[in-house]
Amino acid sequence: MKILLVGSGGREHALAWKMAQSDLVSELLVAPGNIGITREPKCRTAPVPSDDVSGLLELARNEKVDLTVVGPEAPLVAGLTDLFVKSGLRVFGPSAAAALLEGSKVFSKDLMKKYKIPTADYETFEDYDLASAYLKSAKFPLVVKADGLAAGKGVFVCNLEEEALDALHQIMKQKVFGIAGERVIIEDCLEGEEASFIAFTDGVSVIPLASSQDHKPIFDNDRGPNTGGMGAYSPAPVVTTSAHDRIMNEVMLPTVKALEAEGRPYMGFLYAGLMIKDDLPKVLEFNVRLGDPEAQPLLVRMKTDPVRLMLSALEGSLSKETIKWDNDAAVCVVMASEGYPGSYPKGKIILGLDEAETIPGVKVFVAGAESSPSGVVTSGGRVLGVTSLAQNIPEAIKKAYEGVEKIYWEGAHYRRDIGKKALSRS
Ligand code: AMP
Ligand code: GLY
Repeated sequence: MKILLVGSGGREHALAWKMAQSDLVSELLVAPGNIGITREPKCRTAPVPSDDVSGLLELARNEKVDLTVVGPEAPLVAGLTDLFVKSGLRVFGPSAAAALLEGSKVFSKDLMKKYKIPTADYETFEDYDLASAYLKSAKFPLVVKADGLAAGKGVFVCNLEEEALDALHQIMKQKVFGIAGERVIIEDCLEGEEASFIAFTDGVSVIPLASSQDHKPIFDNDRGPNTGGMGAYSPAPVVTTSAHDRIMNEVMLPTVKALEAEGRPYMGFLYAGLMIKDDLPKVLEFNVRLGDPEAQPLLVRMKTDPVRLMLSALEGSLSKETIKWDNDAAVCVVMASEGYPGSYPKGKIILGLDEAETIPGVKVFVAGAESSPSGVVTSGGRVLGVTSLAQNIPEAIKKAYEGVEKIYWEGAHYRRDIGKKALSRS
């Protein structure tokens, strides 16, 4: 079968690497892909951007692809699935109506409230003056969130009133996230430890992936602004058996049922970002896709063919599926450009890529790099995800950082504490 994979980041490199191992796959076309993906077997890239939904449809038709798999949220929220399905093409990923779960935080919070899915208490504002008046009488800390898509950067955890007023000003007056900031959510600040809980769903059955944990802030010990994610590991010991059962019964299954009841049936990856305290989960946000960088450690541990699971989801027969996992642990350390998540330079020559991959159990996934006459150079904020598989988390951490140390470019930044929270629980 010929598959079109949409996206160009580390998550898509990990998906391409894993899907290329499937006996069901003869060819993988990745749009627009990246230089790491071009080096994988069966893979070819096409220069169509992932938000050019009609360009992607033309590509899928011309190339006669059998299935399209969407990595990032933007094309799903923009209605890629609806457009493809109307043209008789198969897509693994939710419709625009269902993808609103990530596309609008107001929609997602209101859905959780209506169906009693645990999440922080919140207020919604469309008016700047009303929101700032609310902040002036509120208790801190609290969290200010832009309603729409903001590449993981539209959330401000504020300890002080002036921080919250500044966040509100950026979102609603300066419009730094454009129309995504026409409405804001102001919500209670939750305590606990975060985890990412991701599943395959066909709209009825929910087949969970292994647990994982992201590291959102740019600096060690969770300091500095939020990023797309600076590293991840799997499994995450904060997701105990009891927490897992509660997440399935109080979050995942009720959410899928709620969307069905609202006339927005959901098929694809469903990701709940959770805060967990004493095994009790509360939802921070939903995403309608795999996490990036969570996909990297999850896919190196996955032993079941994900393409088979995607086809089962499309047929509505996920209930017969289970997923096998490597008992080993996996860790991904993201290497980023200096300055990220703000502005950063591009074109820095990357050395040591091949050397890092000679370490047994280390795989380097490319997120933002390209080829140039002087060799492979940086081209994005998050550049590489150095991912390891080893018998336990401490060994996997050690191995991932051995890989990181082989790689060099001027100004490379990475966190040195990826996986530390798991160590404190073992
Ligand atoms: P989100 O994009 O909504 O997941 O938010 C990004 C990050 O902000 C999360 O991973 C948390 O670290 C933090 N965050 C979001 N909402 C809350 C909340 N209600 N309480 C505490 N931290 C939060
Ligand atoms: N790593 C967080 C996300 O993918 O949204």
